[in-house]
Amino acid sequence: MKFLTVVGARPQFVKASVVSRALRARKHEEILLHTGQHYDDTMSKVFFDIMKIPPPEYNLEVGSGPHGWQKAQMLEGIEKVLLDEKPDWLLVYGDTNSTLAGALAAAKLHVPIAHVEAGLRSFNLAMPEEINRKLTDHISSLLFCPTQAAIDNLKKEGIYQGIHIVGDVMYDAALEYSQLETDILERNDLESKDYLMLTVHRPSNTDNTQNLKNIFAALEGQNIIFPAHPRTVNIMKDRSIQLPEGIQLIKPVNYVESLALVKNASKLLTDSGGMQKEAYFFGTPCITLREETEWVETIDLGWNVLTGANPEKIKDAVANFAPSGERPEIYGDGKASQQIVQIIEEF
Ligand code: UD1
Repeated sequence: MKFLTVVGARPQFVKASVVSRALRARKHEEILLHTGQHYDDTMSKVFFDIMKIPPPEYNLEVGSGPHGWQKAQMLEGIEKVLLDEKPDWLLVYGDTNSTLAGALAAAKLHVPIAHVEAGLRSFNLAMPEEINRKLTDHISSLLFCPTQAAIDNLKKEGIYQGIHIVGDVMYDAALEYSQLETDILERNDLESKDYLMLTVHRPSNTDNTQNLKNIFAALEGQNIIFPAHPRTVNIMKDRSIQLPEGIQLIKPVNYVESLALVKNASKLLTDSGGMQKEAYFFGTPCITLREETEWVETIDLGWNVLTGANPEKIKDAVANFAPSGERPEIYGDGKASQQIVQIIEEF
């Protein structure tokens, strides 16, 4: 079968790496299309290099811009490639603008869509991702869910067909790539379990300057490594926001380095979706700088806590949050990618 895979943002490179390998191992033809949503080397190329993802056949080089303009550029480019390549399937991941652009372009041309990481919901429509994931789910033929909660969400929205629970491809990727060596700790003078890791990039915490300031203020004096997303760095520069003592800002890190930083941190503070799960995989307590999460199991099992940008809650979690309960394998067995390929073949 012939697949067109659409990726564009950092977490999609991670997810696509393992599924691509499974597809190619089964001798399927895969055409990779990069929308160019993430384009800096540190946000894109380093991921392709470290995970040995084949270079994309198409790169639309759309770049950053207002949402309507960005998605329009993506739609136009993806539609053209779909018409030229005539794939049997369109494969999309997660919930970024590139995900929905790929799905919309394919749906209008009646190309069936397989959505990996379907059914996740935050129930917060102010998040651009919530809109992207809902719409993508409703026009997909195959919906690959990482968790039972995701399946339940789809059913509540009246989606019953094509749903499969396969586990999480991010678990497949984390198991594989955490085996690779990196000197990221040494390079930044970090000792295992002696530092906190921070990532912040959501509009709710960056475009809202007060939230960003509150988060930084709450962390004053802690030993923190902070690989910063360009969005956050740009906002800090524009609005002259200074970092307090103790927070070490570094450029975005590659996937292997990121896994090592999460694994060795005493706690992770993040507003990322995927990193909440990575913390769970490695048994690192996670403090989520959001009001809600799609990964509700990590909360239910006691390994994740929601603080939003509330400084008191953040300080309390940094000082006192100490989960010690079981961490059952709730995200599959590390073979989600193979299952996905098998299910598509059987469909
Ligand atoms: C996007 C996804 C988000 C995901 C994140 C992972 C959407 C709506 N959001 O958010 O779900 O968690 O990727 O990183 O799709 N920029 C650069 N260089 C780059 C990329 C971005 O400088 O290579 C800057 C630009 O100023 C840009 C801003 O970051 O405007 C935001 O980038 P964008 O891709 O719109 O959203 P992310 O915050 O990265």
